[in-house]
Amino acid sequence: MTPAIDIRGAWRIYETAAGYTPALRGVSLTVARGEFLAIMGPSGSGKSTLMNILGCLDRPTAGTYLLEGIDVTELSEDDLAHVRASRLGFVFQSFNLLPRATVLRNVMLPLVYSDLPPRDRELAAWRALRSVGLPEEHYLHRSNELSGGQMQRVAIARALVNDPAIIFADEPTGNLDTATGEMVMRTFRRMQARGKTIVLITHDADVAAWADRTVHIRDGKLFSDEEERRYLADLATRDAAAATENDGAPGSANETTSLSPAAPGPSARRALLLGVPAL
Ligand SMILES: Nc1ncnc2c1ncn2[C@@H]1O[C@H](COP(=O)(O)OP(=O)(O)OP(=O)(O)O)[C@@H](O)[C@H]1O
Ligand SMILES: [Mg+2]
Repeated sequence: MTPAIDIRGAWRIYETAAGYTPALRGVSLTVARGEFLAIMGPSGSGKSTLMNILGCLDRPTAGTYLLEGIDVTELSEDDLAHVRASRLGFVFQSFNLLPRATVLRNVMLPLVYSDLPPRDRELAAWRALRSVGLPEEHYLHRSNELSGGQMQRVAIARALVNDPAIIFADEPTGNLDTATGEMVMRTFRRMQARGKTIVLITHDADVAAWADRTVHIRDGKLFSDEEERRYLADLATRDAAAATENDGAPGSANETTSLSPAAPGPSARRALLLGVPAL
């Protein structure tokens, strides 16, 4: 079977007044159908850029991208919009719900361009909401009357309402407490059990642990879990060696200090890499 996602040698270079920013630098990635993949990386590493390209919201500057076997780099804007509406679902950190519209109306939104009659749209929204476990008593509430976890479940229902093959989620638990985040992750696992492919971006290793596989992005390049572990171990060894050198070489402290006055220590470096504040 062709993979859900097969992207090769993808570059994305942003052009701004200040010059060129290569946000993706030769990314290659294959995601099997039905796989649950997590992408981890620090802030600014290129996660959203990659998700926008994988989700056909943006195009690579160079490289090839086959989505379910179709070369989407060749498609017109209209065809891309059709691919998004029929095959893909999106979930974002900030839920992106219409606050004053009812839960049901929010979930029906992606069907606005479909041929379905209103009654069937409503039915599809009910089904999607039931599948994410939101109690029916909330369906006619405004979305701003819900808790964060309930809002994210509505957002997942909205991503599911067109029965997409692939769901993209960019930091879906970023605004939720741990317990609520776990509930949302269980919802994604349920969707995977129903045959969906899931690509989830996160800063959080505990969240990534829910996925079948994790890849890491650093400076616009992808690394496997194994490569990332080796890189971090290597970094820790070098930090430890540098610390020992400084301890054991009296008189060299001034020189080291003047060479790298603000060099972060191992935990700060790791925190920087993981995109979380150092404790
Ligand atoms: N529209 C744009 N124009 C110019 N540069 C951009 C644009 N979008 C992103 N970038 C740059 O590309 C790089 C990657 O950005 P991206 O948003 O993909 O990072 P990210 O990993 O999603 O970060 P975060 O965790 O903070 O969301 C950054 O250097 C960013 O400044
Ligand atoms: Mg981002």
